[in-house]
Amino acid sequence: MAPSNTGVRLIPQENRSGDPAIAAQGFGRISEIQPPSFAPGALDAAYDWFARYGYVVLRACLDKRELAELNAFMDRTQRERPDAWGLGERRRPHHRNQGLIFSQPLLDHPELDPYTRHAASFPLVARILGGVERVRFSEFNFRETPEHAGAGTMNFHHDAVVADRLLRDPYLPCDWLCAIHYLTDVDADCPAFCVVPGSNRFATLADAFATLGDDYREVPLRGPAGTCILYDTALFHTRLDGDGRRGRRTWHQYYARGGWLPSSLPGTKRYVRAPSPVLTDWNLFPERLALHADPAVRLYFSHWNTAQCEWVASGFDPAVRAAMPRGYQ
Ligand SMILES: [Fe+2]
Repeated sequence: MAPSNTGVRLIPQENRSGDPAIAAQGFGRISEIQPPSFAPGALDAAYDWFARYGYVVLRACLDKRELAELNAFMDRTQRERPDAWGLGERRRPHHRNQGLIFSQPLLDHPELDPYTRHAASFPLVARILGGVERVRFSEFNFRETPEHAGAGTMNFHHDAVVADRLLRDPYLPCDWLCAIHYLTDVDADCPAFCVVPGSNRFATLADAFATLGDDYREVPLRGPAGTCILYDTALFHTRLDGDGRRGRRTWHQYYARGGWLPSSLPGTKRYVRAPSPVLTDWNLFPERLALHADPAVRLYFSHWNTAQCEWVASGFDPAVRAAMPRGYQ
């Protein structure tokens, strides 16, 4: 590894994994400098950083009680509901190569409802998505890279995107936003969420590498348990491997943008951005949230996919849910 005085550690291609089953993980221009983290109340500064780079780090978003509660939830459900975590006898395809996931904990655990609009991060989420009335819930899950998991197979990628992102003006609000909360400390030896700042404006990582030039960085984000990272799903990112021994626990929540939004697109007379499409074709919202008595909560949980529509039409029939690939009962 070549040291550099520009805050970048260069990993030559030949020193990276020669195993085709293990991800090459980007161009190997790893930042040695951690970006600033913002207090949850520093809305203006945190928003400005996000607007420039497509992600932002908020510190101390979860307190000790919440961290204990969520870690205990993970311990308990791994013990009592191993199939939901992919720990049962039949490992499911979506559990391979990315550690453990409990995909839809909200279905059966209303004790998690208060976390769906967490007081520490939600004000910034709302600012980024264009206002509280535009924020929609998409997905909520817990993940764990167990200890001694070895090298991973995740390379840089973006999540869901809308094609107009490369041309629309203004760019923000983005279409989806993901919040990753670290539930365990993430230091230099742990798997780390890793971003390429500013890459959300590019169609490919190679385009970002060619155009950003010396500004191109792969930035592993480290921090104590309770750290929250918000990122635009169009941003290139990965889970950068640690030493292969240390583990990591995270809570992931995705938000979408609702409503119709006037915008502009070159060559188009009148352009209006539609509400973001649904993020997945399988994610379900339980009756208590989808049909909540409060219209504001119903609006928040209103981005239904066709599986959800069928489940609602069935009267939330458990058999319909059980037929779904992640409908663990
Ligand atoms: Fe991703």
